Amino acid sequence: MALIQTSDIHNHLLPGVDDGFRHAADSLQAIERMAAAGVSELVFTPHMNPDVYPDVTEVRHREVYEEFRRQIPAGLSLTTHLAAEYMVVKGFEERAASRADELHVFPDRSILVEMSYYYRSQNLEQTLFELNMAGLKPILAHPERYLYMADCLGDFDKIVGMGCRLQMNLMSLTGTYGKESIKILDHLLSHGMYSFMATDLHSLGQLDRILDFKPGFFLKRKLRKCFEL
Ligand SMILES: [Fe+2]
Repeated sequence: MALIQTSDIHNHLLPGVDDGFRHAADSLQAIERMAAAGVSELVFTPHMNPDVYPDVTEVRHREVYEEFRRQIPAGLSLTTHLAAEYMVVKGFEERAASRADELHVFPDRSILVEMSYYYRSQNLEQTLFELNMAGLKPILAHPERYLYMADCLGDFDKIVGMGCRLQMNLMSLTGTYGKESIKILDHLLSHGMYSFMATDLHSLGQLDRILDFKPGFFLKRKLRKCFEL
């Protein structure tokens, strides 16, 4: 049983715009394999982080997407959408408050956000508030990768209480990110706090690991608290 979902809501398949796939040929190969594994919908979520990619705008993402989507074989019967993975950098809450219409969001007005792996965004709560006020529905990407949260697991109650849903990375189940990550993962799974699982795919090598991964009995039981398997 592969855990990959029919709708993959977080990946870096859009080529050449971030630290994910660099070449369209590799993206297309990954997409074909994902379709063969049962994926029928892809939401492209390239990083949007002005600290790392200062010259990359939503307009640029849109251009690359419009060019790339034409290369996806129609025979795969895939639905695709362009969104983004927004880093909650300093000042992002102001953009959410005053220019939310520029943001690349999902068809249902969900918006994927992330924090640094090294420190918590001081403006996370304010950002969630502003996104909600703008009629958007925030999803926090891979909370189990924010290792600094392992000692304040109760804070996730507040984050979820603010209307933010949580998205788990399939790769995290393999233990790749260490014991703090597993502690967070266990907590969120056992409390039924995840709403989504996704690939966050950056490379073909990661896809091999995701498709090869088979959860054992106990992990499956935990996953069922959040997901239909
Ligand atoms: Fe990502």
